[in-house]
Amino acid sequence: MPTDYYSEVLSPPKLMTLERHIVEGERRHPGATGTFTGLLADLSLAAKVVWKEVSKAGLVNILGATDDENVHGEIRKKLDVYANETIYHAMDHGGHLCVMASEESGGLLKIPDQYPKGKYVMLFDPLDGSANIDANITIGTIFSIFRRKSESGDGTIEDLLQPGNQLAAAGYILYGSSTMFVYSTGSGVHGFTLDPSVGEFLLSNENMHIPEKGKEYSVNEGNYNKWDKKVQRVFDYFKEIDPATNRPYSLRYIGTMVADFHRILLYGGFFAYPPDMKNTEGKLRLTYECIPLSFLAEQAGGKAIDGEMRILDKQPMDIHQRTPIYFGSKEDIETVERLLGG
Ligand code: AHG
Ligand code: MN
Ligand code: MN
Repeated sequence: MPTDYYSEVLSPPKLMTLERHIVEGERRHPGATGTFTGLLADLSLAAKVVWKEVSKAGLVNILGATDDENVHGEIRKKLDVYANETIYHAMDHGGHLCVMASEESGGLLKIPDQYPKGKYVMLFDPLDGSANIDANITIGTIFSIFRRKSESGDGTIEDLLQPGNQLAAAGYILYGSSTMFVYSTGSGVHGFTLDPSVGEFLLSNENMHIPEKGKEYSVNEGNYNKWDKKVQRVFDYFKEIDPATNRPYSLRYIGTMVADFHRILLYGGFFAYPPDMKNTEGKLRLTYECIPLSFLAEQAGGKAIDGEMRILDKQPMDIHQRTPIYFGSKEDIETVERLLGG
């Protein structure tokens, strides 16, 4: 057999695992200790364990509401509880973190006394879009990682209440038609797709960039009559004919913020959860949802605002604080800013 048979037919694909990508990224930072690599490796293991349960959700008796309510007063699903505990226990003993906080838990999640305390803190939404679980619609896990501010010992609430402009890393895991791990450490946004046959997240989307302008908006427009005039004007505007395409913007709304984010990352457009008469700060949580996704939006060349200011410059005052949010294609968000400001 000619030797070039092997090079042409059997040459293996160039594979870049998530872990190798993180190691190589960390190597570019002088003085890096490898802590960050270990931290994200622990998280990718947790992601695979959660994915394993999510993917068989219809098969086992794990669906349905538990009988307690989370701190936001919403009935939570069993998979929320499972994901919350899996992620906590995957991250509590690696020696990388000194405290965590989760959307599903009441207060600070302490690292157990017997384990070493590290120099980072993590906040996470274990399952975003959990109302969609029963309908087999994409859900996800969102995370943020900051360097601690306190010197040593257990992390504090001040370590967790940091503005997004201080983030060390953020990302999400999407449990969709395929499972993806998307992250940024401040050098672009990179996406990895889980190959279940080898059990690895493999680089599939390097340096993702949100198109400058989109063709779609994403909002729960059922709230229209509760919005104030300025917000209504934004969505009236995007229903006008867009000269760039000769048609109005289309509406796309999954009801899983992180899945709507992922579509916008690839196709452009913008997402909004505006304030309304009843919910003057909107619905979404600044710390667990809005800060990490805004960081990723900016890293991908997009923008994220609360209607008045950049989300990443907002100082969180409370761990479960909510905020209005508009994020997506740069040009679209600038149009939103203009319409809200005028
Ligand atoms: P969670 O499942 O973590 O509570 O988040 C649900 C959020 C978000 O993912 C989604 O965009 C939004 O709630 C949908 O809210 P509405 O049903 O009010 O549109
Ligand atoms: Mn959520
Ligand atoms: Mn959630």
